[in-house]
Amino acid sequence: MSCCDESNLDRSQVGFETRKATKLAAMFVALLMGVSVAPSILPRPSKLEVLAGTCPVGPTVQLIADRTAKPVARLLSTEWQLRKGEGTIIRFQTQKGLPAEGYTLDVKPAGIVIRASTSAGMFYGSQTLRQLLPPETAGQPLTKDYQIPCVHIEDAPRFGWRGAMLDVCRHFMPKEFVLKFIDTLSRQKMNRFHFHLTDDQGWRIEIKRYPKLTEVGAWRKETMAGRYGDGKFDGVPHGGFYTQADLREIVRYAAERHVTVVPEIEMPGHATAAIAAYTSLGSTGKPVEVGTGWGVISDIANVEPETIKFWQNVLDEVMAIFPSPFIHCGGDEVPKEQWKASASVQARMKALGIPDEEALQSWFTHQMDAYIASKGRRLIGWDEILQGGELAPGATVMSWRGEQGGIDAAKAGHDVVMAPTDYTYLDYYQSRETETEPLAIGGFVPLEKVYRYEPVPEAIRNTPAEKRVLGAQGQLWTEYITNPAHVEYMAFPRLCALAEGTWSGPERDFAEFKTRLAVHTQRLAALGVNFRPDKADAQKTIASWTPDTVAETWTTWTFSAPILPSGKAATIRFAYSNGDHRLEIRKLELLINGNVAGVDEHSGFTGGENRDRDYRLNIPMIPAGAKIELRAEVRADGGHDSYGDVILLPAK
Ligand code: ACM
Repeated sequence: MSCCDESNLDRSQVGFETRKATKLAAMFVALLMGVSVAPSILPRPSKLEVLAGTCPVGPTVQLIADRTAKPVARLLSTEWQLRKGEGTIIRFQTQKGLPAEGYTLDVKPAGIVIRASTSAGMFYGSQTLRQLLPPETAGQPLTKDYQIPCVHIEDAPRFGWRGAMLDVCRHFMPKEFVLKFIDTLSRQKMNRFHFHLTDDQGWRIEIKRYPKLTEVGAWRKETMAGRYGDGKFDGVPHGGFYTQADLREIVRYAAERHVTVVPEIEMPGHATAAIAAYTSLGSTGKPVEVGTGWGVISDIANVEPETIKFWQNVLDEVMAIFPSPFIHCGGDEVPKEQWKASASVQARMKALGIPDEEALQSWFTHQMDAYIASKGRRLIGWDEILQGGELAPGATVMSWRGEQGGIDAAKAGHDVVMAPTDYTYLDYYQSRETETEPLAIGGFVPLEKVYRYEPVPEAIRNTPAEKRVLGAQGQLWTEYITNPAHVEYMAFPRLCALAEGTWSGPERDFAEFKTRLAVHTQRLAALGVNFRPDKADAQKTIASWTPDTVAETWTTWTFSAPILPSGKAATIRFAYSNGDHRLEIRKLELLINGNVAGVDEHSGFTGGENRDRDYRLNIPMIPAGAKIELRAEVRADGGHDSYGDVILLPAK
């Protein structure tokens, strides 16, 4: 069946009944052929109308593309392995006036038209078209005709920065995986790949002028094993780097998919691998080794003119490889002890008339900003670059320590990308059932939380500063993520949620999103992406604590617990999710109508680490209408900035 057969019909002869019968027959065929009746487009388009009828899409479709759309048509043709034939015509038409990255898609029985004003828009139109096919065809050659539903779609993104950051320093990831990851992002209309290329534990970009950066800096003798603080190391050397040819290939591949690769070169902190390669870059004059453990390492670069020149020379090669308008210079977590202790750093600070070490970092950032700006690019850095003085004029801030950095920068007239830990750190756990999850750094960022994240902070909503929010991105730090399959497990489906949060409008309907996600994960499966399946978290939340609920000294906290199972044993878990301080527990009591009816008294705590945090109570038969409460003796250790939930674990 093809749309062209239909044009042989004399339309005037097709009466109502015949048309109805034709439509019913088409629906029947559609059902047989596995057409999803309601298209599951992810991210949600601005406007979607499902029309009557279907259109066949198969290996003989004919792509008609002008110059703007040629590369997009080439990608489709290669992926679908099209051959010559008389199939449906898919026409790409340049239409001025459509928003940048926006498109319209019209699928009619007689053919398909994608309209856009840019090649990015053409590309996103083609991604939506792909999503009208059955999910198991994602990324596959078309071997037969599929009936896709007729639709009219109008679509454009809400934000221009829809990103993901991948740390390839803590664990090196092969080039082939980087390409696959970029392709997966682009299928969800994400357009920024932030490539974290240098850090304490590895330097991953070939710099021809400084070969030791990769000869020495790309390799470490071993890696921290297990949880931070266990004091274990695996004794296994680890390393790897990308040649400049590799990186150019990645940039080219990404550009075909309208993804900009934003390179990050960390400075002046998180630079141990560079200092291990060239001792003269450091602030102590002593040789150091490439980092083997996690956390913030005290070795930081000095501020001598030769060192400033070193970073600028590195940036020259970086900018020659990466056409990105933004060049990321890190700037986070720079401990200042070595600068305080170094006579030469102090002398230089004095000579420059700089009052303190925070201002010295700000001065350092200005040196890089001016250099990058002189090459027609813009510096972007983590929100610490706001500290120590006026931010360099063109600089853009990536707000990770919450939203405040983003708010301050936007109010001061700087562009910002939102990347707050609480919503976008995808190295954090995605379930409270941490025992059945791969070991992670901590935290709790479930899918729904990412989905509900609103990139424009409330403090600047409906003010001129809101325009400064370029968008948001998810972070995949890889201390505990050791291989590509594990990256994908942490990234998906949470990045599907962020794709929608940055592309689609501000409305949120999690249940509706999940119905589309169920189809989208079938696409991910067809692409061979190791996404985390939807294991509906079986446990139930009884109560939550916040800094207002708990104190630094032992206090009792009583809360209602009507979901406890009458006449059964119950396991109740204290699950920290956030904040600077862990929660300690020493007793949990069951109260029925105010009287103690059960108790578990033992010491436990929950935070970055958990110990003995499950409490078991034998629940007696509960009389109808009784008031059921739990009373915990708790304290927040060392300060009351602590958040978490008390949950009823499923019965074993
Ligand atoms: C960061 O997580 N240190 C940016």
